[in-house]
Amino acid sequence: AVRLRVRQALGAREPADAVRVQGWVRSVRSQKEVLFLHINDGSSLESLQVVADPSLEKSDLTFGCAVEVQGKLVKSPHRKQNMELQAETIRVVGPCDIWSFPLKMKERHPLEYVRQFPHLRCRNNTLGALLRIRSEATAGIHSFFQDNGYVHIHTPIITSNDCEGAGELFQIETSREAKESVEKTHFFNVPAFLTVSGQLHLEVMAGAFTHVFTFGPTFRAENSQSRRHLAEFYMVEAELSFTESLQDIMQVMEDLFKTVTSTVLSKCPWDVELFHKYIAPAQKSDITHKLFSSSCRISYSEAVEILKQAPQTFTFKPEWGCDLQTEHEKYLVKHCGEVPVFVVNYPYDLKPFYMRDNEDGPQHTVAAVDLLVPGVGELCGGSLREERLPFLESRLQRLGLTDTFQWYLDLRKFGSVPHGGFGMGFERYLQYILGVDNIKDVIPFPRFSHSCLL
Ligand code: 4AD
Ligand code: MG
Repeated sequence: AVRLRVRQALGAREPADAVRVQGWVRSVRSQKEVLFLHINDGSSLESLQVVADPSLEKSDLTFGCAVEVQGKLVKSPHRKQNMELQAETIRVVGPCDIWSFPLKMKERHPLEYVRQFPHLRCRNNTLGALLRIRSEATAGIHSFFQDNGYVHIHTPIITSNDCEGAGELFQIETSREAKESVEKTHFFNVPAFLTVSGQLHLEVMAGAFTHVFTFGPTFRAENSQSRRHLAEFYMVEAELSFTESLQDIMQVMEDLFKTVTSTVLSKCPWDVELFHKYIAPAQKSDITHKLFSSSCRISYSEAVEILKQAPQTFTFKPEWGCDLQTEHEKYLVKHCGEVPVFVVNYPYDLKPFYMRDNEDGPQHTVAAVDLLVPGVGELCGGSLREERLPFLESRLQRLGLTDTFQWYLDLRKFGSVPHGGFGMGFERYLQYILGVDNIKDVIPFPRFSHSCLL
């Protein structure tokens, strides 16, 4: 017998004898004259209907069990389904105790419920759909950059640099160092951390390749209870040389967003529809918005003025020089008509050392850009980088970081060019296009959220 994935069986043009399908049972319905099963193997949201003689029913053929069915693939008489499998043999490969199995047949379990079972929730429709979308979006991101001539760089996960300087580092030590807590002799001779951004490594590569990108795990020790923050998340980062305008950076953000979202929509339309139908009903008509049919661009100073004139009061009073809080981001997006908003030119003192001085006053603003989107807030952050040696030298000097970043200063001595780039949070991207409220529901494993050791 020819082994078929459920997706292949459902999409088959012609009937076929002797096929074999393997998967997990999503429903069992036994009638007097016929036994119906639905089998899912993760290849599609839709399950394959199996029609069998009631004599093939066994006590361990239940919801959740693993089966192998052999038989004939025939045209289905039902309008909703193209093909069905007429079973000749059904073998239960692995039984499932339905009484203790936390998922129940035909129930639409809420995301909060399945989050309690990180090791089992992938067998549920919603998480199945999410994981297929996540996989297609990952491939779409790689294709977008490869198709546009970017070189993919594997930037290190263990590093000694602190790119953002925001105090959110996880430091690493060997288990022996941790146990003995003797005088710290570092494994690598210097303190080492989990990366908070691959940007500085990308900047190295942008001195040889004009277009580079990286897409990997990123770590930040911050607010684990938030709906928008993870300790471990994926970041897509791009760096472009010979770029003098923030507009070029914003254009790449927008093109990346549009291309990947169209890919996802065309590769897994049913999976996306499930989210729009059951998870975020109000989002459905919004999908065109999400393809950037319109967006808005304001400066940080304009943003502060808008906030100051807002009819509502904020917990954090808007003031020039202060960071935009979630409540501020929300208001700005609403003010602009619930479309993506680019905020540019932030205060010099608010941003990391690498951002380019706009020279609109003594250390007044830098060429930074954040992209805020409805329902999620900050989706991307980027900037032009300070490529001028004297500017960078004096800033690092003031921060007492000259020695640490000698290698970074070197990049400005040997063939420095204007350049810039950005990072996009992959989970926030998924939250946005799917309308998912909690960021823990767009990752394969909700790490450490229920003291789970997975
Ligand atoms: O704005 P951030 O901190 O930018 C950087 O790290 C730059 N060095 C990137 C660059 O220019 N190459 O982070 C970029 C994005 C944010 O806009 C946000 O979407 C996401 O990463 N992000 C997080 N996502 C989930 N959980 C967290 N704790 C996140 N922190 C940042
Ligand atoms: Mg940021």
